[in-house]
Order: sequence, then structure tokens, then C-alpha cells
Amino acid sequence: MKTEIFDIDGENIDYSLLEKAAEILKRGGLVVFPTETVYGLGAAAACSEAVKNIFKAKGRPSDNPLIVHISDLDMIKELISDEKTLENQDIKKLAQNFWPGPLTIIFRKNNSLCDEVTAGLDTVGIRMPENIVARELIRLTGKGVAAPSANTSGRPSPTEPRHVIEDMYGKVDAIICSGNCAVGVESTVLDMTCDPPVILRPGGVTRESIKELLGKDILMAGVIKNDEGQDFVPKAPGMKYRHYAPRGKVIVFSGEDEKIAEKINKYFSEALNEGKIPRIVASRQTARYYDEKYVTVFGDKECPETFAAGIFSALRECDRYNADIIFAEAVSQEGIGEAVMNRLLKAAGNNIIYV
Ligand code: TXA
Ligand code: MG
Repeated sequence: MKTEIFDIDGENIDYSLLEKAAEILKRGGLVVFPTETVYGLGAAAACSEAVKNIFKAKGRPSDNPLIVHISDLDMIKELISDEKTLENQDIKKLAQNFWPGPLTIIFRKNNSLCDEVTAGLDTVGIRMPENIVARELIRLTGKGVAAPSANTSGRPSPTEPRHVIEDMYGKVDAIICSGNCAVGVESTVLDMTCDPPVILRPGGVTRESIKELLGKDILMAGVIKNDEGQDFVPKAPGMKYRHYAPRGKVIVFSGEDEKIAEKINKYFSEALNEGKIPRIVASRQTARYYDEKYVTVFGDKECPETFAAGIFSALRECDRYNADIIFAEAVSQEGIGEAVMNRLLKAAGNNIIYV
């Protein structure tokens, strides 16, 4: 398939290009677009054929539902089962405070929404992204846009244009390139069809900030136990797959900085001796403990958001070095760290060593 590339600057939008992209969506094509979390692989949510093509382009299991993206609250009405849900105080607060932004809310779905989007569930995930190119694209399309992350299923999510080109060139009608994603991990998926609400996937909006806003406990769906998904039946179907993974095996190390470094250096020498290509994923502060040539820095301890912005790009960099074993430092679980650790542990198939 021929893939058109549209370079669009969010600060000075070229509407002639964005109109073209919207036209492609309206006639049932696939368009990759930027959001503040990760790049999304979009199709008109109302067009079941187009939505099926998303699953093909990604190689995604068909039991994993998609998030529908909207550009204003009016678009929600034809997606959810009952408009009155929007009058619920908690929903109102969430929408007012976190939309547009990296929060996906799970609602009961409207029966007119095709089963391909929701993978046959009776609920639908909805999000209004903050990224202006995304929102303008949706507005011009005039209807909800279904979009998963624009990576090949299983690979790290794309946060830079080149990641999208790697995975999607030749598989979609168009790719909108618009710089790097500011948040860098996907949206928080929050199930509001139950009380107390449950976070099905930690993400760009922290559990603490939701708890503070709603003044109630927010549950966290269990963390997957192993690659087979034993001990945990996830409600977000996407959470049961090995995910976000570079080609090499990932091991995460948790503990005090010096002890982690000692352990990683030991494993690293062993790997070199065995003829492997090892790579180390470390913070800006701890990189100096290792042989610099082998280190990918993924963030700065003084600004935890940088780990979110850098995690997927770091995992993809390991692939570019052809690393077959990757030693990654754990980060603090606080705030956005909860989402970063979730992605790291999934990339590692939960392989973590406490030192
Ligand atoms: O930030 C994001 O959320 C990005 C951008 C493009 O918006 N999208 C994204 O989509 O990460 P995806 O498809 O890669 O991940 C969506 C997650 C999956 O784990 C899926 O199972 C879950 O949300 N999900 C979607 N609809 C759901 C539903 N109705 N019930 C439970 N989980 C749902
Ligand atoms: Mg994804």
C-alpha cells in the first residue's frame, strides 16, 4: 500500500494537509496521527471495515478493544448507552479536569457502535486527546476516531515519527508526522461502570490525582503475574499480552542505585563473555556507573516525567543496537512512575530482580 506522509506542525497547522487526512478517514482509510501520549492508528469508529483493517495493520488480536477518540463532548452521545451518564458527578469532574488529556473513561456502549471497535464487549473506552493536531483531525472528520497505539502488536508504542515509519509504513494510507509525544506513555484507562472506579491500565493521569479529584479510593486492576497471564484475569483485554517488548530479553533491577549497578555490571560481564550483545537502560544520574558505550539513558530522577517520555524510545533504541539482553533500572512507583514500571515489567515479562 502507498503511504502518504504529512508533516504537520502543531503550532502552525497546515489545514490543507489535515483536511486530506480527514478525508481519508471519512472514506474508510487508515491514518496515523500524533497524540500527547503515543501515536495512534486511526479509523472512523463508525466504519467496521476500516476498523477491521486496524487489526490487520497491527497484527492485533481481535479480542482487544479500541479506544474511541473525540474532539468535543457532543461526540460522546452517540457512543454511550445513556446520555444521563454524563450528568454523573464523578464523570463530570473527570471530564472537566482531565479532558482534553491522557485519560480514557470506560462507559456502557451504545448498541449502534460496531462490535469491531469494542471487541464484542458491552462497554467502550473514550478519550479526548490534548494534542491539537489530533483534536483538529477528529473535528474535521466529524465523528469518533477509533485508534490503538500505532505500533505493531507487541512492540514498544511509538512516541516519535521514526517509530511509526518503522512499524506502519506501507500498511496505512497516511502518517501524520508531528514531533515527539510529550507524555510518552499511553492514557490511563479508568473503568467508571463500577464503584469504586478501577484503573485498568495506569497511564498519563496518575492514580493519586484521580483519587484526589473524586475524593474516593481508586482500585488498580491486578498486575499480570507471568507471560501466561496466570493468577489474573484482566478486564482490559490488552493487559494480558506480552507487550511493549524490544526483541531482546529484558531484566529489571530494583533496589539502591549502587547495588543495582553492581549487579547489572556483573550480569553485563557475563553476557559479554557469553558472546551476547547486552544493553543497559539507566537514569541520567546512574549512567556513570556503567560502560558508557552500552548505556541508553531513559530519564532523569529529578524529573520523573522524563522516564515516561523516554521509556519506549529507549526500548526501541535497544533494538537498533541489536541487543539480545537488556538490563533496565527500575524507577520509583510514585505518580507517573506507576505507569512507567507497568510498561517496563510488561516488556520484561515480569522478570525483576530485587537487589
Ligand atoms: O494513549 C492511549 O490510550 C493511546 C492513544 C493512541 O490514544 N491508545 C492506546 O490504545 O494505547 P491501545 O489500543 O494500544 O490500548 C487500549 C487499552 C487496551 O489495553 C484495551 O484492552 C483497553 O485499553 N480497552 C479499550 N477499550 C476497553 C473496554 N471497553 N474495556 C476494557 N478495556 C478496554
Ligand atoms: Mg497499545
